[in-house]
Amino acid sequence: MAQVQLSGIAKTFGKVTALDAMDLTIDDGELVCLLGPSGSGKSTLLRIIGGFEMPSEGTIAIDGVDVTDLPPERRPTAMVFQSHALWSHMTVFGNIAFGLKLRHLPKAEIRERVEKVLDLVGLTGYGARLPSQLSGGQQQRVALARSLVVEPKILLLDEPFASLDQHLRERLREEVRDIQQRLGITAVFVTHGQDEALAISDRIVVLADGRMQQVGRPGEIYAEPKTAFVAGFIGAMNMLEGTLADGEITASGLKLPAEGSGPAKLAIRPEDIELAEPAEGRTVTVRRMIDFGAHVVIDGKLADGTHLRIQTDKAIRVSQGDQIGIRVESWTVFTEGDEPRRYRSDTVRSFRGARYA
Ligand SMILES: Nc1ncnc2c1ncn2[C@@H]1O[C@H](COP(=O)(O)OP(=O)(O)OP(=O)(O)O)[C@@H](O)[C@H]1O
Ligand SMILES: [Mg+2]
Repeated sequence: MAQVQLSGIAKTFGKVTALDAMDLTIDDGELVCLLGPSGSGKSTLLRIIGGFEMPSEGTIAIDGVDVTDLPPERRPTAMVFQSHALWSHMTVFGNIAFGLKLRHLPKAEIRERVEKVLDLVGLTGYGARLPSQLSGGQQQRVALARSLVVEPKILLLDEPFASLDQHLRERLREEVRDIQQRLGITAVFVTHGQDEALAISDRIVVLADGRMQQVGRPGEIYAEPKTAFVAGFIGAMNMLEGTLADGEITASGLKLPAEGSGPAKLAIRPEDIELAEPAEGRTVTVRRMIDFGAHVVIDGKLADGTHLRIQTDKAIRVSQGDQIGIRVESWTVFTEGDEPRRYRSDTVRSFRGARYA
């Protein structure tokens, strides 16, 4: 059992508010990703959970016990830091065994636990090597092994694979997910990679400027972003400045049914745009076509020059300068201070009498 409960956590560094009054409960065995741009407070929050930083306000409880004043070594947590430096003069075995030696465990037990964890991260037989004799990915796995060997109830990972190439990063994060689920560890994983967060999380916490923007399951955050920031930050999104009037939103010459009045943001996923016959308010000029193999992305230009990304899996060929028609299948309108409004073309056909087809 390891449930983490953050209540009213805030952190200021002098005049900088790194975190603003945060409440969050992380369930036993859950993997939560902290996702947000640089400087949004991800590391600060993680360090507070691990006991490496004291909150300015609020409390942290683990399994109902207040640990706010406990140092890291007295918490059931282990942390893999953003810069994961191993001790270069120590072998892989020495690096991993370090935390156990500090706890004065018997030699035989230390050996057994290190072997087990080396096996877990796929580095059986590497114990005698020095860090300099390992690849970057292997070094990061040693850093991971070093945190796992103390059998933490809670694993805290601060962008552990940020410096690796995409392929290796994907493999290692799958491995972490695997180990975390197999051992039933509660984990908090910091990343600014949205794909990474979507791929491995039970839930995602989106942070911006030290505030929680949204907390939810990956699919939920992707499909139902609560703010324009989340909509633009998670997944590819066309975000257009527009104006609401007369049952329509007009943005960069594009017109779609929408309620309300005044300035608004129009958010459209590239995959929610279909190609159609060109029509008034729904024509795009092709800038470029990018063929990803499995799908095609068209980088288009709207009436005022704004980019519009269109993703289609159709075997389509268009060239620069072509005028193409579009049909938007679903869109979201964000207005200041209001809940976002979501629309689907199949439900707004007779929207306020105006036909959308
Ligand atoms: N020790 C410190 N002293 C002063 N300001 C700090 C300190 N640590 C962090 N900050 C500030 O707090 C804010 C949050 O920093 P934090 O390291 O948590 O961001 P982050 O989301 O982890 O960013 P990154 O993605 O770049 O690692 C930043 O504005 C940062 O400059
Ligand atoms: Mg950080």
